[in-house]
Amino acid sequence: MDRLRSLSKSMKIEGNPFGSSHQRNQIFLKFVAFFLLVGLTYRLIITDSTDSPIPQVRTSPDPPGLTASVAQAPAPVVSPVNITTAASQNASTKCDIFTGNWVPDPSGPLYTNTSCRHIQEHQNCLKNGRPDSNYLLWRWKPRDCDLPRFDPQHFLDTMRNKWWAFIGDSISRNHVQSLLCILSQVEEVEEIYHDKEYRSKIWRFPSHNFTLSVVWSPFLLKADVFENSEGVSFSDIQLHLDTLDPKWTDQYVNFDYVVISGGKWFLKTSIFHENHTVTGCHYCQGKNNLTELGYGYSYRKALRLVLDFVADPNRKAQVLLRTTTPDHFENGEWNSGGFCNRTMPFKESEGEMKSEDEFMRDIELEEFRKTQEEGSNIALLDTTSMSLLRPDGHPGPYRYPNPFSGMKIKDPVRVQNDCLHWCLPGPIDSWNDLMVEVMLNREIEKEN
Ligand SMILES: *[C@@H]1O[C@H](CO)[C@@H](O)[C@H](O)[C@H]1NC(C)=O
Ligand SMILES: *[C@@H]1O[C@H](CO)[C@@H](O)[C@H](O)[C@H]1NC(C)=O
Ligand SMILES: *[C@@H]1O[C@H](CO)[C@@H](O)[C@H](O)[C@H]1NC(C)=O
Ligand SMILES: *[C@@H]1O[C@H](CO)[C@@H](O)[C@H](O)[C@H]1NC(C)=O
Ligand SMILES: *[C@@H]1O[C@H](CO)[C@@H](O)[C@H](O)[C@H]1NC(C)=O
Ligand SMILES: *[C@@H]1O[C@H](CO)[C@@H](O)[C@H](O)[C@H]1NC(C)=O
Ligand SMILES: *[C@@H]1O[C@H](CO)[C@@H](O)[C@H](O)[C@H]1NC(C)=O
Repeated sequence: MDRLRSLSKSMKIEGNPFGSSHQRNQIFLKFVAFFLLVGLTYRLIITDSTDSPIPQVRTSPDPPGLTASVAQAPAPVVSPVNITTAASQNASTKCDIFTGNWVPDPSGPLYTNTSCRHIQEHQNCLKNGRPDSNYLLWRWKPRDCDLPRFDPQHFLDTMRNKWWAFIGDSISRNHVQSLLCILSQVEEVEEIYHDKEYRSKIWRFPSHNFTLSVVWSPFLLKADVFENSEGVSFSDIQLHLDTLDPKWTDQYVNFDYVVISGGKWFLKTSIFHENHTVTGCHYCQGKNNLTELGYGYSYRKALRLVLDFVADPNRKAQVLLRTTTPDHFENGEWNSGGFCNRTMPFKESEGEMKSEDEFMRDIELEEFRKTQEEGSNIALLDTTSMSLLRPDGHPGPYRYPNPFSGMKIKDPVRVQNDCLHWCLPGPIDSWNDLMVEVMLNREIEKEN
C-alpha cells in the first residue's frame, strides 16, 4: 500500500494541464466544477438512447459513480491455461501488474466498431469520426513482467456455469461493454433482462451458460435520487450511510464473481442519514444548518459497509474492488471548455492525479487494506494509475457523429467533450487483462 501511495505521489509531475494551482485547499472550489462534470457524466451514461442532446449546464450535480471488483473463484474446472499460468505465477509472486507503461502494440484491439454491437453511441469513437487511431495501438506493460492478453475463448471456458457481475455507475457500464465486445468475438450474447432505464442488464452466453450482469448502483448504498427524465436533479440526494443498496445485495447470492466500485457520484450534493437521523451532508452550502462532513466521510462509510458485506465468509463470490477512474479534462472542466485532444499516452513519469482522484484512491486503499488484514476473498483492481496515463483514450468531442459539422476549424472548445468515459475499443479494454490476471493469480495462491 505504501508503495502504491508513493506511486500516486510520484505521479504528481509538473506539466499537467491542471498544474499545481489546484491545491488540496482549493478542492472545495473545484467541487463545483466537478459536480457539473458529473452531471455531464451522468447524462452521458444514463442516456443509452442515441443522439441525446448535449447536457445542459446545471446547477446541481448528477454524476455517476464507479464500481469495481472482480471475483475469482477457485475454479473447480480444470482450466485449460498454459502460458498464461506461467505468466500469472510470476505476476503473482513478484510483479506489480498495476505499475508500468503503455508500449506500442501494432496488433490493435480485439474488436472493432463493426465486429461489436454492444458499443454505446457516446463511446463509439470510430463510428463518430474520431480521426486518429494511434490510441488503439498500445498495450499495458507492467514494469517487471508481461501481462497476458485477454483470451476470450479461455475466459468463457473457465466461466462455464458461472455468473459475473459488475456493480457501480456508468464507468462500470463502460467496462462491461468492453468485456462484452471482447467476448462476443467468440460467442454472441443474449440479453435476458434490462430494467426500465436500461441501466441494469443481464446477458447470457448460451453455449457456456455464463451469465454477465451490470447492476446500476452508483452509490452502492441505499439512496433516494430525485431526477427528471433528463437526468437533472430537482432535489437533494438522500444517502443512507448505514444501508447498502438492496438492488445489488438482493441478487448477490447468485454471483460467483463481482467487480464493484464507487466514485464520482459521491461528489454530488447529498444529505447523510445514519440510524434514522440526519447526521450531515456533503456540499450542502449551508442548507438547513447541516454539518458539512464531506464526500470523504460518505465514501469511506460506503466502502466500509460494502467490504464488510462482501468479505463475509458465508458469501461465495470472489470480489475485485476497482479503484477510482481519472478524467483528463484540460484547460477547463466539461462545462467550461475543457477538452482532451491528446493523441499519445503519457509516460510513467508524466500525468498528475487530480486531488479528488488521489483522495478517493487513498480511501479505497485504506479501507481495502483493513479488509485484507481480516483475510478475505477480495482483491484490488487498481486501474487508476494505468488509466491516468491515457489522456488520449476518451471520446472528447466524438460523443456523437460529426461533432464539428458546420465549423470551419475543429475547435475542441466549442463542443461538449467527454474526457471521463473511454472509447470502445480503447484503453479500458486493458482493464480486462488485469482483471483476469488478478483472478488467475489468486487461484494459484489458493492452490499453493
Ligand atoms: C498446454 O501445453 C501443452 C504442452 O506445452 C500442450 O500440449 C497443450 O495443448 C496446451 N494446452 C492448451 C490448452 O493450450
Ligand atoms: C518468470 O520469472 C523468471 C525469473 O524470475 C523469468 O526467467 C521468466 O521469464 C518469468 N516468466 C514470465 C512469463 O514472465
Ligand atoms: C466504423 O467506423 C468506420 C470508421 O473507422 C466507419 O466508416 C463505419 O461507418 C463504422 N461502422 C459502424 C457500423 O459503426
Ligand atoms: C447455469 O449456471 C447457473 C449458475 O450461473 C446454474 O445454476 C445452472 O444450473 C446452470 N445450468 C446448467 C444447465 O448447467
Ligand atoms: C440509534 O438510535 C437509537 C435511538 O435514537 C439509539 O438508541 C441507538 O443506540 C442508535 N444506534 C446506533 C448504532 O447508533
Ligand atoms: C441556522 O442557525 C442559525 C443560528 O444558529 C439560526 O438563526 C437559524 O434559524 C438556523 N436555520 C435553520 C434553517 O435551522
Ligand atoms: C488541442 O486543441 C488545442 C486548442 O484548440 C490546440 O491548440 C492543440 O494544438 C490541440 N492539440 C492536438 C494534439 O490536436
